[in-house]
Order: sequence, then structure tokens, then C-alpha cells
Amino acid sequence: MNKKDAGKAVELAEILNLRDKKRLIVSRGDQVEIPVVECDLVSLKSLKEMAEFEFEIVEQQKPVYARARNLKDALKQKLPESEMKKLEKLIPSAYKVIGNVILVKMPEELRDYARLIGETLLEINPHCKSVWWDRGKRGMLRKPDVELIAGSGGETVHREWGCLYRFDVSKVMFSPGNQAERMRMGTIVGNEVVVDMFAGIGYFTIPMAKKAKVYAIEINPDSYHYLIENIKLNEVEDRVIPVLGDSMFVTPERVADRVVMGHINCHEFLPVAIRALKGKGWIHYHESVPEAVLERPVRRVISAARAEGKNARIECVKKVKNYSPGVIHVVVDAYIY
Ligand SMILES: C[S@@+](CC[C@H](N)C(=O)[O-])C[C@H]1O[C@@H](n2cnc3c(N)ncnc32)[C@H](O)[C@@H]1O
Repeated sequence: MNKKDAGKAVELAEILNLRDKKRLIVSRGDQVEIPVVECDLVSLKSLKEMAEFEFEIVEQQKPVYARARNLKDALKQKLPESEMKKLEKLIPSAYKVIGNVILVKMPEELRDYARLIGETLLEINPHCKSVWWDRGKRGMLRKPDVELIAGSGGETVHREWGCLYRFDVSKVMFSPGNQAERMRMGTIVGNEVVVDMFAGIGYFTIPMAKKAKVYAIEINPDSYHYLIENIKLNEVEDRVIPVLGDSMFVTPERVADRVVMGHINCHEFLPVAIRALKGKGWIHYHESVPEAVLERPVRRVISAARAEGKNARIECVKKVKNYSPGVIHVVVDAYIY
């Protein structure tokens, strides 16, 4: 249709509920294409009768699709309405973008659509190279339970608060929800000695090593490999002593001003942590705790200190994030003396 009538045409298409918003209005020379949904003869007749301008209904040769804002909008453009209605509640409304890799949690009922969902996520995040179905973490090593659903490659570099973390999402975990805690550890620390008993890829070690000397202990060889990479990437080789092993047995004694226990299930390691301190100092003890027994982490720190012949002054208990329904991840800051 002619460009001069475009405004009126859009208005009319909207009144009749015929406008196809998945496609953009395209202008070619003095002509304009206003995409409409597939319409029945009655709607077409009303359009013809009501329009006070000339227009032609044609098959659009080069449609330009509107960029979907989210996964659901993007899938609406690909799946029939009836199918979309069935799936709508199951389709994830959020997903994590870590560097150039996407992690998405979704229910098993979407298995037949996993590839489509993965490819669609890559389309709406053109800078990303792969999409992984995230089913959580397994066991004490917190290994990721993930499956590749689109693209290729799991290695990525995440940038956060001046720190770089390289890792492979299919081999080691990374928790974006712990970001504030990683920053806090980088701020709280001074020119001192720290023992990071569950270092992983350097989640806390890297920000703390900007100021402190850090013993970084990690048991999983995959995580340890990236810990070493990240020490180099962040140029903190002179301040980190990486140790591959079980912190229950390899943690040095009487060396630290501060001990970080960044594992959500590590209460059995409290005596080792207390012995790592130079007689007195700080412990940052993490635990995932049901809301019904919120005092449990504090009780555990106090009784571990007593068993080692020490006192514990509880400075604060902070929520790190929601862990699962009714369970939260907390960190206890305790001064042991
Ligand atoms: C849950 S991750 C750390 C998460 C981290 N706090 C964050 O902010 O994302 C815990 C790490 O502890 C390691 N780990 C588990 N048991 C260990 C042990 N006995 N000794 C040393 N490292 C251990 C795991 O391999 C894993 O890399």
C-alpha cells in the first residue's frame, strides 16, 4: 500500500485485531508492507469495507521478524498457538547467561522441545555459543549435572567486579547467586593470610588475592585446573598458594588470620578450620539450612570452637541466596579467640 496511508492502515488493522506483531512493518520505496495475521474471509471483507484507502493483500516475500524479548515470545513465533498454550506454564521464564554460555533449568516434560528451546535461546542471545540444560549439582564436589541442547563448547570466561573466571560449565559449578558474597570477601580482606578451604575455580580466592596471601585448597582436579588458569589470568601468582587435595587432611595449621569455608555442607570441617587460624581470627562458615532450624549454623560454630578450647563471637549471619524451597544458603561470620 502507499506510504501516505500507512498510519490509518495500522490503526484499522489493530482495531480489527489483524495486525501480526511478530513481523515488523517494512517500507520499500513509496510502498509499505503492514503484516497481518492469516485472516478469514469475513475479517478480510470488513477490512476492505472499512478501509478508505487502496491496498493489496499479498504474501510477504521478505518478512522481517520483531526481535523477541524473551524465550516465551520467541517460541510463540515458532510454535502453533494450541501447542504453546499447553507448554506455556512449563517454559522457563529465566535463564543464566555466563560469559558466552547459557544455562537453563526446565522440567523433563520439555525434553522433546529441548533442541528448539536451545536454538531459540541462541537466536535471542546472538553473542552466546552454547546452551546447557541445567539439572543442578551433584554430591560433595558439586559437579554440574548438565546436558548440551544447542551449539557447542562449555568453556567460558565470566567477568565480575574486576575478576575474570575461566571455567567449563559442563565440568565445574558456578553460582551467579553468590556474586554479592564474592564481592564482600574481596572487600572484607586486608593484607593478611587467608585459607580458602573449598576454593573451586577461585570464586573467593581471586577477589581476596588482590590484597591477601591465600592458601587455595581444592579437591576436584577439573576445578583445580581452572583455579590455576584463573590465578594466571588475574595475575595473582605471587599471592596464591594452590593446593590440590582434601582440605580435611591438607589444610595447614596456625597460619591464617581468616578461613573461608565456602561449601554449603562443611560443618565437619569446622575443627580443621579453627586449627588453621593463628590462635585467633575470622571464620566465614557457609551452610544451606532449612528455615525451621535457622540457628543451626551458629550452634555448630559455637560448639566446634568450644571443642577446640576457644570462644566464638558471632558477628553476623547473612543470607547468601535462596537455595531451594524453604532452605536458604547462609554465611556466618565468627571471630574465634
Ligand atoms: C560449592 S563449591 C564452592 C562454591 C563457591 N563458594 C561459590 O561461591 O560459588 C565447593 C568446592 O569445594 C570443593 N570441595 C568439596 N569437598 C572438598 C574437600 N574435602 N576439600 C577441598 N575441596 C573440596 C568442590 O570440589 C567445589 O569446587
